[in-house]
Amino acid sequence: MSDVFKNIVSHCKEYGYVFQSSEIYDGLAAVYDYGPNGVLLKNNIREYWWKSMVQLHDNISGLDAAIFMHPKTWKASGHVDAFMDPLIDNKDSKKRYRADVLVEDYIEKLHQKVDKEVRKAAKRFGDDFVEEKFKAEHPRVSGYIAKIEEIKAELARCLNESDLEALGQLIKNLDIPDPVGGSRNWTEVRQFNLMFSTQLGNVAGKEEKLYLRPETAQGIFVNFLNVANTSRSKVPFGIAQTGKAFRNEIIARQFIFRMREFEQMEMQYFVRPGEEMKWYEYWKEFRMKWHKALGTPDEKLRYHNHDNLAHYANAAVDIQYDFPFGFKELEGIHSRTDFDLKQHQEYSGKKLQYFDPELSESYTPYVVETSIGLDRMFLAILSQAYQEDEVPDADGKTSKRLVLKLPPALAPIKCAVLPLVKNKEEITEKATAIFNELRYAFDCQYDEKDTIGRRYRRQDANGTPFCVTVDFETLEDNAVTLRDRDTLEQIRIPINEVERVIAEKTSMNTLLKKL
Ligand code: GAP
Repeated sequence: MSDVFKNIVSHCKEYGYVFQSSEIYDGLAAVYDYGPNGVLLKNNIREYWWKSMVQLHDNISGLDAAIFMHPKTWKASGHVDAFMDPLIDNKDSKKRYRADVLVEDYIEKLHQKVDKEVRKAAKRFGDDFVEEKFKAEHPRVSGYIAKIEEIKAELARCLNESDLEALGQLIKNLDIPDPVGGSRNWTEVRQFNLMFSTQLGNVAGKEEKLYLRPETAQGIFVNFLNVANTSRSKVPFGIAQTGKAFRNEIIARQFIFRMREFEQMEMQYFVRPGEEMKWYEYWKEFRMKWHKALGTPDEKLRYHNHDNLAHYANAAVDIQYDFPFGFKELEGIHSRTDFDLKQHQEYSGKKLQYFDPELSESYTPYVVETSIGLDRMFLAILSQAYQEDEVPDADGKTSKRLVLKLPPALAPIKCAVLPLVKNKEEITEKATAIFNELRYAFDCQYDEKDTIGRRYRRQDANGTPFCVTVDFETLEDNAVTLRDRDTLEQIRIPINEVERVIAEKTSMNTLLKKL
């Protein structure tokens, strides 16, 4: 873990965002609990997603399907037979890894070498530098690029053909060491199913194996007709759902990036066959806009086309975010053809077709899916928000401050009400009255402990976008000081204006209107 990432993880604990699950029993690997601030931030991200998808699209309806589903669901979806990761163990360190991730990390290191050479050359040649020409002509750099393509192609072949022996050989040929211990003493590569199972019923020997859903999408597919009929939707239409999913991940060492219990926000968009690419492009663009509306800079987000398409997909792209450990998948947009509905039709024996009144024909719709992990989005937002900057002190010098510059509409606490001093009753009474009024409109905090400077810093680190300070002048002019977390600007406003001003600046509606 980089230092920045370590700091973010400990900040999450210190400020009540995320705790290790069952911490008093030394924790449970890759399972996390959300604290008082965390649960509010998570709710706000979910609300932003839900409103942007369901409320702002006339033709998208919501669903809340159960976590347990009929076991045949997972046979039909292909998860029982194919939801596998290739795993490899190091015989010396006894650590377990995903074999494909070891190769991907190796490729990433080659990319970093290319980037380093490019940066060096750009500096050397200044305005004359042409990146593409340099990459094509520089012997070492073009060598790295050719090697990247060669490894990618072999990795894709191994995964598509489930050629585990060749995948193990690739790791040996590339001389990849154990990232922790450095040893190259590897076992062979084996397949590992990621689904958790449990049983239904309590009569010994009669239990039926049930799975905890590894994605929420299948709950949408099996309810396709229920929703289509009850909402009288016409193709194209979508079904959106948020909820828990479970995967027995082999590697789970990156905090809430890869968890064994996590939450997904998924939407399946049912379209006419042949129109899927049009909608794929639409959702690709809309979802990127959703991320950028939060103020995330362009250079921190990028598309990444899938090198290996799943057998049922005809297009797939990830939106990646530049986490403290590099660019990684944040969200997937997949064109899944008619695979899922056809499979469920075959396994259930029920017709899952749509009658298109405009075409006067029935067909199995094609599906474009958008799928994002709520926890992973939470980590992206915190990584973006966590900053150390310099601020002016009262004595004219500057000092470091730690601040969470969360998008105001998502911040857990919208404003803190602070009496300047705690031993003057008229001031604390006034502040309490303001707090008691504002709490109907937002999540607020009342804080009178410590000096005003310390309280500002505490709220900055907490991510609170506004502080309302009640001072001696308030008793005279019925106005307060409103302090902005990001600009540090302090303005004087009448008490009866406070709610309107904060509401305007922290409103979810303003954020949604950017879409
Ligand atoms: N229905 C499609 C699907 O589940 P996926 O790429 O496997 O596709 C979608 O997962 C998103 O779910 C990912 O982009 C990621 O944000 C999130 N996700 C997947 N596995 C996760 C895990 N173990 N922990 C946290 N988030 C995860």
